[in-house]
Amino acid sequence: MSDSTVPDEASTSEKLSIESTKVALKQRASGSQDNNETPNKKEREEHSRVVAAHYNHLEEKGLEERYNSPIFYMRNFNNWVKSVLIQEYTDKIRDKDYGRRIRVLDICCGKGGDLSKWQKARVDRVIFADIAEVSVQQCKKRYEDLQRRCGRLFTAEFIAADCTKDTLRDKYTDPSINFDLVSCQFGFHYCFESLAQARRMLSNISECLKPDGHFFGTLPDAYEIVSRAQKSPDWSFGNRIFNIKLLFDPKDGYPIFGGKYDFNLEGVVNCPEFLVNFDVLEKLALEYGLELVYKARFSDFFKDHSGKYKQLLQRIKCFESYPAPPGQKLMGEESEYEHAKLFLESKDKIDHDRIGTMSQCEWEVATIYMAFAFKKFKGTMDANGKTVYKKPATISK
Ligand SMILES: C[S@@+](CC[C@H](N)C(=O)[O-])C[C@H]1O[C@@H](n2cnc3c(N)ncnc32)[C@H](O)[C@@H]1O
Repeated sequence: MSDSTVPDEASTSEKLSIESTKVALKQRASGSQDNNETPNKKEREEHSRVVAAHYNHLEEKGLEERYNSPIFYMRNFNNWVKSVLIQEYTDKIRDKDYGRRIRVLDICCGKGGDLSKWQKARVDRVIFADIAEVSVQQCKKRYEDLQRRCGRLFTAEFIAADCTKDTLRDKYTDPSINFDLVSCQFGFHYCFESLAQARRMLSNISECLKPDGHFFGTLPDAYEIVSRAQKSPDWSFGNRIFNIKLLFDPKDGYPIFGGKYDFNLEGVVNCPEFLVNFDVLEKLALEYGLELVYKARFSDFFKDHSGKYKQLLQRIKCFESYPAPPGQKLMGEESEYEHAKLFLESKDKIDHDRIGTMSQCEWEVATIYMAFAFKKFKGTMDANGKTVYKKPATISK
């Protein structure tokens, strides 16, 4: 197997619907930023508890269970995206200043799914923070195990905190720490429950980030979710491995904050999440000195990076072989591999008797997500000694 292919991009009608969704979301975004549809304080506390309890109770899966999971390849693909982001943004630092000590905040770190990625990127210090206490303990334990196994490892700190409500700086051992990078993987959308929570999250992200430092991450793409949901009478969509249902009626408009939906993914996530209106995020981030420098749906991210990071795609098994090798079974039904079949039929059989791919069902979940990166610019002090950020005319990526 020498090559890979994935199911087709959104059809033109889907793209049009994404465009009209953008317009709808933009129209809402030009109104007031917070609104009376956002959940009240009691509901917000309830959500935080539900989210923390959900992640605290997620069991760690053994290797065999992970291998047999119907989202095995999609999870590996998600890890590929995270690895590429980490590699790209640590490389940017080293391209400018090779010997620099790299300090990182991994916000919404979970059980430390990115520990070994930080190790491979040879960073020097990582602060891990998450609302779910049990996950933070597991993250610390995994760090200690890794340290025993590999000897030299970055130094670390572990903080259990609601990053949308608490001030993280108050909890650092050294509150004067400056980060080169802040990473938020698959967790930022929880702060879009309310304007106040989005602000606190952005403040935590930006406060200790150095000028020229990057904040990057991954999150569900609201435009993608809304455009797919719009096609169904009950605002839900999915397939055999996932289901998303909007928990508000879009006929009444899209709330900018508190746009709640349920995301049910084979034992991985099943708690309320919130749509992130990216136009609003982009504007709000500027107030915290963060300018958007990169944004791509996962399908485009794959196109942008699969050439440079092809070996990594193969090493961490992001794709299965189609047709299945003798004695092995495909992850999905044969009908979920039409794209791979067509690809092979269109190629010279001598070069391509087998292709690396993902089932249509897994790809439909993978392409819900997007990757993004912001760059911090310098602020100035106002008369009250408060740092204010004014967007520079140009910013290099
Ligand atoms: C899908 S997991 C991602 C974990 C990790 N970043 C990864 O990529 O493996 C989302 C994480 O966000 C965390 N989270 C949700 N709301 C949070 C909040 N308000 N403050 C801090 N962490 C939060 C959850 O506890 C969970 O660990």
